[in-house]
Amino acid sequence: KRVAILISGGGSNMVALLDSMVGDHPARPCLVLSNDEHAGGLKKAAERGVATAWVDHRPFKGNRTAFEAELIKPILEAKPDIVCLAGFMRVLTGDFVSHFQGRMLNIHPSLLPKYKGLNTHARALEAGDAEHGCSVHEVTAALDDGPILGQARVPVLDEDTPETLAARVLTQEHLLYPAVLRRFAEKNSTPVHLG
Ligand code: GRF
Repeated sequence: KRVAILISGGGSNMVALLDSMVGDHPARPCLVLSNDEHAGGLKKAAERGVATAWVDHRPFKGNRTAFEAELIKPILEAKPDIVCLAGFMRVLTGDFVSHFQGRMLNIHPSLLPKYKGLNTHARALEAGDAEHGCSVHEVTAALDDGPILGQARVPVLDEDTPETLAARVLTQEHLLYPAVLRRFAEKNSTPVHLG
């Protein structure tokens, strides 16, 4: 199976995915694509011998469709079987997602369906939650929605700040996403639950 990964920043989840696709793993990376030419993850991918590309979203301003018309080109050229969003911070339209419906995954730093959108760690602290975590889900037109393929849970500690909580969740993201991708690539739909 060929896997394309979309990133916007440092790509720590992308690195975890790349490092997992070795040996008898049924998938191999075919592209790492970013909406930011300076995304740190592009260098990390190139260092690992993975093809990279970027399409800057800023010249398109609010014209999401025009941006996506450019963004989809390198993806179609790479002919992926699966597309993984990993710290990709642009909202994708239903039209774009429809090209990959059922084979596009995303990792979101909350126990969905709680806390869709941004600032999930601060919101969990604000709510006084005893537990928090991350979710991998199939991407649909609705933001941070779609069938949940796996979740990882972490405790919220009294002294937590959004930063300390985010760091604890991120550690679990790096375990959860590779585990879910492997099962997904093996077409094993049993959900993954860690922690
Ligand atoms: C992290 O906040 C993670 O929770 C979310 O995207 C952000 C950056 O991730 N998935 P990465 O280090 O670029 O993978």
